[in-house]
Amino acid sequence: MTADELRSKYIEFFKTKGHAQIQGKSLIPENDPTVLFTTAGMHPLVPYLLGEDHPAGKRLVDYQKCIRTGDIDSVGDPSHLTFFEMLGNWSLGDYFKEGAIEMSFEFLTSPQWLGIPVEKLAVTVFKGEGDVERDDESAAVWKRMGIPENRIAYLPREDNWWGPAGATGPCGPDSEMFYYVGDAPCGYDCKPGCSCGKWLEIWNDVFMQYNKDAGGNYVPLERKCVDTGMGIERTVTILNGKTSVYDTEIFAPIIAAVTAPIPGGYTYGACPDKDRSIRIISDHIRSATFILGDPKAVSPSNVGAGYVLRRLIRRAVRHGHKLGITGNWLPPIAAAVVEKFAGSYPELESGRAFIMEELEKEGRKFYETLQKGEHEFEKMLPNLLKNPKKIMSGRLAFKLYDTYGFPIELTEELAAENGMKVNREEFDEAFKKHQELSRAGGDQAFKGGLADHSEITTRYHTATHLLQKALRMVLGDHVAQKGSNITAERMRFDFSHGAPMTKEEIKKVEDIVNGAIKADLPVTVQVMSLDEAKNAGAIALFGEKYENQVKVYTMGKSPLDYFSKEVCGGPHVSHTGELGKFAIQKEQSSSAGIRRIRAVLS
Ligand code: SER
Repeated sequence: MTADELRSKYIEFFKTKGHAQIQGKSLIPENDPTVLFTTAGMHPLVPYLLGEDHPAGKRLVDYQKCIRTGDIDSVGDPSHLTFFEMLGNWSLGDYFKEGAIEMSFEFLTSPQWLGIPVEKLAVTVFKGEGDVERDDESAAVWKRMGIPENRIAYLPREDNWWGPAGATGPCGPDSEMFYYVGDAPCGYDCKPGCSCGKWLEIWNDVFMQYNKDAGGNYVPLERKCVDTGMGIERTVTILNGKTSVYDTEIFAPIIAAVTAPIPGGYTYGACPDKDRSIRIISDHIRSATFILGDPKAVSPSNVGAGYVLRRLIRRAVRHGHKLGITGNWLPPIAAAVVEKFAGSYPELESGRAFIMEELEKEGRKFYETLQKGEHEFEKMLPNLLKNPKKIMSGRLAFKLYDTYGFPIELTEELAAENGMKVNREEFDEAFKKHQELSRAGGDQAFKGGLADHSEITTRYHTATHLLQKALRMVLGDHVAQKGSNITAERMRFDFSHGAPMTKEEIKKVEDIVNGAIKADLPVTVQVMSLDEAKNAGAIALFGEKYENQVKVYTMGKSPLDYFSKEVCGGPHVSHTGELGKFAIQKEQSSSAGIRRIRAVLS
């Protein structure tokens, strides 16, 4: 079964069960200060899992592109990926444990759908901890479906609880489904958690019952929800009897594009070391293509999502260099990715030119860096060889890194080729000092976590609506939101406008926003079609994908006599008076034709 088939089957199955298909969202979340990328299928649905109504109803199904960079250094082995697709079905206060498990079982085992033999399956349920009891309810449903007791494992919180790591958000116990990849279970008690390592997780049903608040308390949700996630890559792997995602049709054309330019030709599978480099390039360029092809694409840079992108591209280039590939070789790999995935993600096709341009530019720049670094190393070499201990100082290696951006791994490689070792401890020390000094913004890039929906970020979110309206009143209707980013300390708002704002304009905008706050306008929400929303005068983000039915937030006295009206998923405060005082701290250029405002509420 191909990934395309699995995607369609999943959506079709849940449609027969009364689910509405919704669009997956951008890889780069808006209004979420805690993460750089969408890390799970549930991520864009957080407000709905916490109680907001979804315009498409109570039963939803979708597929979502995700990026997790926590394991970036493990990419290269046969299983790790930075980019993956997640299939998900959602119940917003509709079915709960029984309904979710019955549907999961039917989809997995029915010959009409995946047709996996029951003997190959095992499940886990929450063992119970603190106030939350052992999940006998889920276990009973699994047993009724035909999963024997010896294929049900009761595991603790670290395995069977899904929710934000250290952040706020919806969470609860989960029940995970595993597929046995061996020939026969190794013994009577062989089930997930068994040390044979042959049980692969393919799907997770999360029973959202709590909201973890900013104080770390688990507050029961008024409306219990179900969030499920099935990894496409893993499921395709097991359905095709493979043990590595890189051996599936998903990666076949990408790997072919990576191996094509290797001098002298190469067949994937011939040499473990080269295969590892090929997997790294395949994964990283697939991720980079999706980031660059996103409607909210970023360019490679030294901060935030742009830094992750840069790191992915550079690591790929370095491994290409190891394989002896020269020239402009990244765009053809991206072309293979676009070709393979544009059917499900049409944005890749519309972003094609930008993807190719950015990859070419960053790839070329870094390739030059590599060459310069090598040249410098060769200049150092005669002196280095005089050292009888055959040790290259870590400070020298750090200089290559700091001055030329030459990666330490490469210095080590070059040193090894000349019979030397690098003093890694000394390098690490110099590197650490440098990091402390430069408050490396990029490192935050690798932390996970979930949306922050605390009161303060909700207030800032409402303030973005007031600000957008005020900017349009003062500067004109050409002003359109181009992005926003909120933390508990401030908001940032990017918008289209060709010139710096004058002091007077800034003052006027502040006054208008504060006037709207003082008027304590009620905030109301209505669900309607996108056309109706536009006819009603609502602002919608250009280039954003919307469902058939959208939510429209109105801030004002009535649907006709209002201050602001925007298509938006929420959440928002109920009265603008809750915002406090609004002040613009900075107005500057963000990029060509885009201005950026930094503002605070106090
Ligand atoms: N949130 C859960 C996961 O990511 C299920 O979708 O595994």
